[in-house]
Amino acid sequence: MKRRSLLGATAFAVLGLGSLVQAQDLPPLEQKDSYTVGFAQSESNNPWRIAETKSFQDTAASCGWNLIVTDAGGSAAKQVADVDSMIAQGIDVLFLPPREESPLIPAVMRAKAAGIPVFLVDRSVDPNVAQAGRDYVAFLGSDFVDQGRRAAEYMMENFEGEQGLIIQLEGTTGSSPANDRKRGFDEAVAGNDKFQILESRTGDFARDEGRRVMETLLQAHPDVNIVYAHNDEMAIGAIQALEAAGRTPGQDVMVVSIDGTRDALQAIIDGKMAVTVESSPFFGPLSCETMKRYAAGETIEPWVKVEDRIFTAENAAEHIDEAY
Ligand code: AHR
Repeated sequence: MKRRSLLGATAFAVLGLGSLVQAQDLPPLEQKDSYTVGFAQSESNNPWRIAETKSFQDTAASCGWNLIVTDAGGSAAKQVADVDSMIAQGIDVLFLPPREESPLIPAVMRAKAAGIPVFLVDRSVDPNVAQAGRDYVAFLGSDFVDQGRRAAEYMMENFEGEQGLIIQLEGTTGSSPANDRKRGFDEAVAGNDKFQILESRTGDFARDEGRRVMETLLQAHPDVNIVYAHNDEMAIGAIQALEAAGRTPGQDVMVVSIDGTRDALQAIIDGKMAVTVESSPFFGPLSCETMKRYAAGETIEPWVKVEDRIFTAENAAEHIDEAY
């Protein structure tokens, strides 16, 4: 295993009465023509994650990456093992979308201890335990709380019924997008008497699970007239369940979601879905640029934020060709 000095990137800040406080203690990254880079994907069961992996693969040659890609198949334990294996192989840099907020933290710490700069991409870890600028270089990704809030705001502005009765399909339990998209949506809806969340349950960000959960919840709540799904795959699964139950999504049930996949944009064009707030999976170019800035000695901002658009009936047709 390769071990490098951490001193190169150690910076100090003078705080208060002149006490020296270590502000940063991250592994340095030398500037060179090619890097062995690890990308430890969490799963590949939906178009979003496949597009994300492809974005890294498409970026590899132009960024000088000898890219090692693993697929944890939906298991945080396997993702930990994948990271450990990459550390043992002596990667120069790790890009990691942690499947859940807590279980990956020890692996992040081990990568740092082995002198490997870690960039969290698309998903983050529990900020009470591990922090950008100290335990890993930065988080590159969207504002998931804002995505949930924007989905709620669109729903509140455009729902035409008298009372909105909502089923929420949550993403993977313990993942940062599921936690934050729920928080943003719930906070926006709270206090608006016109809307009530009937039930909120995980569909694990998967189409089949979204359909199964929706089938079950439809039995318990036949009066539902809004579905908020934390991603498009679950929204499409919910649309299938609604149609199988004789409902007409887009007419008697409003479907709001997040991601911007091709199937979701098509569902909007077909009048079955109202809105999807974008969450871009195209992290390859941003990861390359951020890594190069870091290698050049720049201090990277803790959160390299991705700005998201919103897709509705007004612009879905215009954007479907660029969707995945
Ligand atoms: O972390 C981002 C989320 O993960 C996407 O919204 C979802 O589709 C994916 O599985």
